[in-house]
Amino acid sequence: MNILKETNFKNLGKKYTGKVRDVYVQKDKVILISTDRYSAFDRNLALIPCKGQVLTEVSKFWFEQTKDIVPNHVIDFPDPNVVVGKKCTVLPVEMVVRGYITGVTGTSTWTLYQKGERDFGDFVLPDGMHKNQKLDKPVITPTTKHEAHDRPLTSKIILEEKIMTPEIWQKVSDIALKLFARGQEVALKKGLILVDTKYEFGLTENGEIILIDEIHTPDSSRYWQAKTYQERIANGLEPENFDKEFLRLWFKDNCDPYKDEKLPEAPADMVTELSRRYIQICEQITGIPFKIESGDIEKRIENNLQAYKI
Ligand SMILES: Nc1ncnc2c1ncn2[C@@H]1O[C@H](COP(=O)(O)OP(=O)(O)O)[C@@H](O)[C@H]1O
Ligand SMILES: [Mg+2]
Repeated sequence: MNILKETNFKNLGKKYTGKVRDVYVQKDKVILISTDRYSAFDRNLALIPCKGQVLTEVSKFWFEQTKDIVPNHVIDFPDPNVVVGKKCTVLPVEMVVRGYITGVTGTSTWTLYQKGERDFGDFVLPDGMHKNQKLDKPVITPTTKHEAHDRPLTSKIILEEKIMTPEIWQKVSDIALKLFARGQEVALKKGLILVDTKYEFGLTENGEIILIDEIHTPDSSRYWQAKTYQERIANGLEPENFDKEFLRLWFKDNCDPYKDEKLPEAPADMVTELSRRYIQICEQITGIPFKIESGDIEKRIENNLQAYKI
């Protein structure tokens, strides 16, 4: 099976190992190689065939669909797993945009709402909402980017702590909402609801704001099938979703992913199923049949990156 765990290329620049991507940093460029790592609990749990290619192809589709709203970092897609981007200073805030009240983690709006929270700083939610309900209008729930654990932020904190200038905060908020509106509009044409997502922005040398990293991928976003949404929530069911939680839950049930030094190997059928789901959602979003590549991925990438050697 051709799987990409990690890369160790020489002469591509200084390597930074992210949770999912290997990033090679050059003077004015970053080379982002999406691997097949599946990360949760701040560690790599498994390798999912084709995941890296899916993330790259989905981002490619959305960068193209949104480039009239904000310029993005894309310089080139030299390989199915690689984007070459313009290097920039990463803004220290992850712009999370939510169109629905949902989620299961401690910081999700639904968890907080259930605990009685109504005032989220930048918006107030009314009583009587139910899980997975659409919000009157999308909201931004920013979090910190460079701290060990994501810390929830509000406009007030961002400005008081001078995390961003009022001007930049205003601009990225505005852009994030426009990107999300476009995302929802285009997704719906593909039969999907874009439920929530996360954007990262950077500043170029001239101080221009550009969209970086990835956009509307199944890792950075939640998607539901539009066709069955109404009926399912009317019947008290969860929306039909792109679900990758089941593998995370398996680890929670079968080991202590926070403490155990060595993790058990994920069951092969679960890995295959998750890979199938990534490919399915990629095809649904892009409308292009997914091409499973044969051959050694690392060798192929090395070949395709010849021109970027320094
Ligand atoms: N154009 C860019 N310039 C500089 N850094 C970037 C750019 N695009 C993405 N990055 C950074 O590269 C990293 C991508 O790898 P990823 O696996 O997502 O890392 P992380 O574990 O930090 O989320 C992120 O830290 C992201 O902020
Ligand atoms: Mg990331």
